Amino acid sequence: MRIGLIGAGAIGKFLLEKINSEKKLPGFEITTVFDERAKAKTALAEAEEKYNISLVQQLDAFLSAPVDIVVECANIAAVEKYAPTILKQKDMLIISIGALVEEAFLQNLKQVAEAAKTNIYLPAGAVGGLDVLRAAASLDELDEVSLTTRKPAKALSDTEITSEQILFTGEEREAIKQFPKNANVAIILSLAGIGVKDTRVTIIADPAVTKNIHFIEASGAFGKLELKLENNPSPTNPKTSYLTALSIFTVLEKLDQTVQIG
Ligand SMILES: NC(=O)c1ccc[n+]([C@@H]2O[C@H](COP(=O)([O-])OP(=O)(O)OC[C@H]3O[C@@H](n4cnc5c(N)ncnc54)[C@H](O)[C@@H]3O)[C@@H](O)[C@H]2O)c1
Repeated sequence: MRIGLIGAGAIGKFLLEKINSEKKLPGFEITTVFDERAKAKTALAEAEEKYNISLVQQLDAFLSAPVDIVVECANIAAVEKYAPTILKQKDMLIISIGALVEEAFLQNLKQVAEAAKTNIYLPAGAVGGLDVLRAAASLDELDEVSLTTRKPAKALSDTEITSEQILFTGEEREAIKQFPKNANVAIILSLAGIGVKDTRVTIIADPAVTKNIHFIEASGAFGKLELKLENNPSPTNPKTSYLTALSIFTVLEKLDQTVQIG
């Protein structure tokens, strides 16, 4: 399985390290990194040599490169710009889930992928419990889903917060608008569960915590779910949870597995 990467930052480098250097996913290799920007040539020179990858700077060339699946770990703008074209030819894993906030954009990607018989993979990222939400929602019997996110105060506000403060409580759709940096987690939960309109979100700035903490509650015909995640930051980008990189790794791993769990 040959992987074409967009975005060689904290998550991208983790994948390069684990897949190309440490060979933790036998049968997989990142062959190509796509970056149109002029500065990429210099910025990625070291990585090209270290990980034995080719930097490609034109989308056409990227699409005709030896790539079976494209893995995006760049940003929302890259998804908006490239995903509609890439999905006409290749499977694509998207980690900048915030790009899917507009229902119309997601529908467009789905239509492109259906017509081209390609697949869109959306990893769980910094949260979990999606298997439960999906199963619970499969017969429209999932009644309630809520997400309480507690982050270090500095990560949520520029003004000094000295004690725990609820910054938002309400519909997920509104939470995404006011706190776009929380969008990845909120959107993947709503896609797996009951949608942005019905998912309730509370965002708390807490000067006493050092980790991003997500507490997911759900109830329906299946019973009740309570799941608390205390995410460690990625060693190379404190703004990204380490779990996010692991979630991409596991989606890729699953592509090749005869026994599928979850
Ligand atoms: N789904 C989730 O739960 C979740 C959690 C954390 C982060 N994320 C998302 O993952 C993405 C990557 O996170 P990260 O921590 O690795 O970020 P990062 O800033 O460390 O790395 C992003 C990389 O993308 C590169 N890049 C930017 N624009 C590009 C373009 N047009 N073409 C090619 N490369 C480009 C940057 O130079 C950088 O190297 C972000 O969008 C982030 O929001 C998702």
